Amino acid sequence: MNTITLIQPDDWHAHLRDGLALQRTVPDLAKQFSRAICMPNLVPPVKTVEEAEAYRERVMAHVPEGIAFDPRMVLYFTDQTSPEEVKKIKESAHVNAIKLYPAGATTNSDNGVSDIRKVYAVIEQLEEQQVPLLLHGEVTHHHVDIFDREKRFLDEVLSPLLQQFPNLKLVLEHITTSEAAQFVLEQGRNVAATITPQHLLFNRNDMLVGGVKPHFYCLPILKRQTHQQTLLEVATSGNPKFFLGTDSAPHSKNAKENACGCAGCYSAPTAIELYAQAFDQVGRIDRLEGFASLFGADFYGLPRNTNTITLVKEEQTIPTSLDYLDGEQIIPLYAGKTIQWRKV
Ligand code: DOR
Ligand code: ZN
Repeated sequence: MNTITLIQPDDWHAHLRDGLALQRTVPDLAKQFSRAICMPNLVPPVKTVEEAEAYRERVMAHVPEGIAFDPRMVLYFTDQTSPEEVKKIKESAHVNAIKLYPAGATTNSDNGVSDIRKVYAVIEQLEEQQVPLLLHGEVTHHHVDIFDREKRFLDEVLSPLLQQFPNLKLVLEHITTSEAAQFVLEQGRNVAATITPQHLLFNRNDMLVGGVKPHFYCLPILKRQTHQQTLLEVATSGNPKFFLGTDSAPHSKNAKENACGCAGCYSAPTAIELYAQAFDQVGRIDRLEGFASLFGADFYGLPRNTNTITLVKEEQTIPTSLDYLDGEQIIPLYAGKTIQWRKV
């Protein structure tokens, strides 16, 4: 198969940032995807439906002429989030979910939830209203090894949470381990997961062998190859519990190539081609459409897109660098490397 036509994909997990960054991030994403879940970890975070509506307007102002793009908004869960805010999400036309970052887990997560048991009253509302809870699934205790943080989250936080709220609609975001994939497989249809292109294409050797490659550093961190293989298996299995979420997370070149480099891979400009590369590598390009274009919309209860995009099996080299902010640069994921698929 050298040409494939897909229903236009959606990105169910993307970081667009704010202000000048939107000049780069919004066109890059909107050229690929019809809809994107816009993550709320801005400074300050997007905590209310009102703030989410205002942020959406700022995003919309950067959508290029002639492109239809529908940003889907998410609130940032804090210790202060009220159950009433959940009702507002339910009534909102643009806000679809709430994102829980354990405090300190990743970029701009300082305002995240300090102890999930303290916010059970809000979670009860989420379950009742069937508003999806999006989870950054890592524990943050200093003594827990960074490679074990996702697994520990499953055991210590997620299992008890689902025992208490068995009908909670929940997306375990950017899963990185076989244990997480297995956990999701064992749950009902109310539990799903997103998978990034970097966790399908790479493993920790790509990041650490032959020198530290900061552009592969993201959170949750890349794991060993056996986990990468499991993620490829479930992503290409046709199981609707697993769908596309790039976690495209822009940081300037300076912020990444730094003594304390930021976490995040910027995949937005070629995300669908990177996924095509991953699916094709395991002979499953025919399963891309479900993962990229159908299962996420179904999970969120949104209509499937009707327009299509076409990908051709033709080499393209990913740019080594792109303009970002005012005079800065950003290094896209897999910069300077050649992949086999191109969106026409
Ligand atoms: O690598 C990451 N970058 N992981 C996250 O969870 C957040 C993101 C960001 O916002 O930069
Ligand atoms: Zn993210």
